[in-house]
Amino acid sequence: MPRPVNHEFWMAQALRLARKGMYSTHPNPRVGCVIVKDAKLVSQGWHEFTGGPHAEINAIEKNQVPPGSDFYTTLEPCSHHGKTPPCVDALIELKPRRVVVAMQDPNPLVAGAGIGKLEANGIKVVQGVLESEARLLNPGFISRLEKGRPFVRLKMAISLDGRTALKSGESRWITGKSARLDVQRLRARSSAILTSAKTVMDDNPSLNLRVSKSDLDQNVELRHPVRVILDAELRLTGKEKIFGTDGEIWIYTLNSSPFEIERLVAAGAQVSILDDSGSGNINLKKLMSHLAKREINEVHTECGQTLAGALVQQGLVDEIIIYMAPKLLGSRSIGAFDLGQISHIRNTRPTHAGDQATSQQVGSTTQTMDSHPRSSHPGVPWVKQQSLSGQLATSTKMTSAWTLHEKAATKVTIRR
Ligand SMILES: NC(=O)c1ccc[n+]([C@@H]2O[C@H](COP(=O)([O-])OP(=O)(O)OC[C@H]3O[C@@H](n4cnc5c(N)ncnc54)[C@H](OP(=O)(O)O)[C@@H]3O)[C@@H](O)[C@H]2O)c1
Repeated sequence: MPRPVNHEFWMAQALRLARKGMYSTHPNPRVGCVIVKDAKLVSQGWHEFTGGPHAEINAIEKNQVPPGSDFYTTLEPCSHHGKTPPCVDALIELKPRRVVVAMQDPNPLVAGAGIGKLEANGIKVVQGVLESEARLLNPGFISRLEKGRPFVRLKMAISLDGRTALKSGESRWITGKSARLDVQRLRARSSAILTSAKTVMDDNPSLNLRVSKSDLDQNVELRHPVRVILDAELRLTGKEKIFGTDGEIWIYTLNSSPFEIERLVAAGAQVSILDDSGSGNINLKKLMSHLAKREINEVHTECGQTLAGALVQQGLVDEIIIYMAPKLLGSRSIGAFDLGQISHIRNTRPTHAGDQATSQQVGSTTQTMDSHPRSSHPGVPWVKQQSLSGQLATSTKMTSAWTLHEKAATKVTIRR
């Protein structure tokens, strides 16, 4: 008797392959493909880098593909001529029995046309296998094409009492080395890093990538995300540290003075003038649609409480990542989100029904499970967690107790 087909099993493998393109496919999506015949793997591939062959073509070229094979792709095969020819034509030529796709391509140039062409050629198409996992892999690409704005991730380093900087403006370094390494991963996967001229002037950060491809287990050279800076009045001088580091700088402003613009262009920035929002600030919604038009998928935001609050209030934040350090900065220090006066707890942001929250230990932690020996909790399931510093920590589903070393942090992620 033939074995039942396990679409999820093979699609999970295709998703694992797609993840290998996490840092290298911008502005394209991360895509994986697995080819199977008689329940055996024939070939596999993924989209490795922008401009390179698509996942399906990499899989087809790696091994001989017999007719009647099943293709598993994390995204609908393309049907248009882009930097490479349409993948559906290559698939049709190989006479597959079936093509299983996790999700339709939101790109209006494809959007079901690839699936339609396969079906018109007598090839069975199964859709929606592990679709939510596939969507999680490409939040920026999907947001850009479906909503006309990038996926916005907001990262903040805070103290245990929710403060982001001292009153003097000093905020470096609230968290330690491990949290900063984790932030480097987030920067590396993003198309752009967004901040304000205020934070650039206060902190003088480089906002660049300080990890190499080997740190992230990649074969392809890492691309520096574009640094996007909001500077309504063009207060930056062009001499800040950010101008001396690799990567493009895009400044958005309300100031059309040729003299100020020329100063920053001479320092290597591209300057765009945007409308204000009626309040004398740069219109953040217009900014986001401008960034989407410039093929920015994921925006990684590192800013202070004012811009963070404005982004949240305007519904422009999709994910908040907080690194909480075991320190107290005191109530005279600066908070994390300026949201004005909130009159009712029910109006608090950004948690909506359906938001997902996870928490994780980052950096050097010591498990304190010795005080809760396994035997004293009969029936309590144990889970293992890998801390980001590579140390193995253990916690139970019911309780988790940690000794945080000074430079460690708790990472909380909230996602819509
Ligand atoms: N702990 C952390 O994770 C972290 C991260 C970054 C920064 N910081 C700290 O945060 C402090 C700076 O915070 P901050 O609150 O003063 O500055 P900020 O939030 O970084 O930026 C404020 C600027 O954002 C722009 N802005 C504010 N509201 C806006 C709106 N509604 N629409 C469009 N643009 C808007 C304005 O720029 P224009 O004036 O140009 O219009 C404003 O000056 C620094 O001390 C820095 O050290 C902490």
